Amino acid sequence: MSKGKILVAGGTGYIGSHTVVDLIENGFDVVSADNYHNSKAGVLDGIEAITGVRVVNHTVDLADAEATAKLFEKHQFDGAIHFAAYKAVGESVDKPLEYFRNNLNSLLNVIDGLRRQGSSNLVFSSSCSVYGNADELPVRESTPRKPAESPYARTKQMGEDILYDFCAKHTDFQAVLLRYFNPAGAHPSGRIGEDAANPASNLVPVITEVGAGKREKLTVFGSDYDTRDGSAVRDYIHVSDLAHAHTLALQFLMEGRSTENPSLFNLGIGEGLTVLEVIHAFERVSGKSLNYEVGPRRAGDVVAVYADRTKASQELGWEPQYDVDDIMRTAWAWEEKR
Ligand code: WQD
Repeated sequence: MSKGKILVAGGTGYIGSHTVVDLIENGFDVVSADNYHNSKAGVLDGIEAITGVRVVNHTVDLADAEATAKLFEKHQFDGAIHFAAYKAVGESVDKPLEYFRNNLNSLLNVIDGLRRQGSSNLVFSSSCSVYGNADELPVRESTPRKPAESPYARTKQMGEDILYDFCAKHTDFQAVLLRYFNPAGAHPSGRIGEDAANPASNLVPVITEVGAGKREKLTVFGSDYDTRDGSAVRDYIHVSDLAHAHTLALQFLMEGRSTENPSLFNLGIGEGLTVLEVIHAFERVSGKSLNYEVGPRRAGDVVAVYADRTKASQELGWEPQYDVDDIMRTAWAWEEKR
């Protein structure tokens, strides 16, 4: 007996595909909508190999109101998870209008589609970047948001604000905002992983590409920060841990356990690691030494950000299972396979 039919908007993307796997493994029927802007159709084979289920992906531009409305005429959803967004921080600085148009219109169209069919239970993919250079560490959900450091981060803040205002008016429309820290790693089966259509810019895939000889070297962006070893600190969370948190958040909404609307949760493991510590984790699990050099700081980077995960643990029952070595081990296995 299915627990319900869920739309995963952006279901062939990195976090979306891992969440599709987790939803299926937890008894949900899944429909994906993705225009493959930053993903590949082959990921559906990987999902099938893991779950035995051939997920249908509707190749829809969710920023297109008419096309999205047609999608909602085909299915009656019990909930939705909205991942579909452009997410490259640097690119958002160069192309702000594309980021606002795509990221905001796709969210508005998904909210509208759910509302028109009398459905609810929306999980929104937000980001720790809404905190900017936080005044306190670890970051709590009550930590004030600071001015966004990029148009990408601004679209996440605006997405949250859209849902606050919408839910204030439509109190029967339940939503939850999930603020991701740094997603990394790949599914333990090695069948799916980060397979972006665009060149990798995040630390972990850059490390594995250098390790595999697909890139000449890694540049560490800054070694003069006020941290343990001078390199910047982030909270790395395994993508499968992150995926499971979405399933728990959806069940939290569908079972009516939310006491605020929207509900808000940080999703980080609660530990900060420096860039150099992540590099050493790669060297530990791969047995290879990584070719890297230290360079200047990257514009827009914060010195340190990591989560207090108490709220997600207490209210969602979420407990991360993977550590940085698991992240690097699965990321490296995926890289070698690609
Ligand atoms: C991590 C650390 C870099 C590459 C971004 C977005 C965030 C989320 C995750 C979408 C930083 C350093 C990196 C390299 C390096 N995106 N680094 N050399 O910037 O923390 O977060 O991705 O949800 O919203 O802001 O991630 O992986 O780019 O960087 O030294 O070649 O690694 O300076 O300290 P970031 P990242």
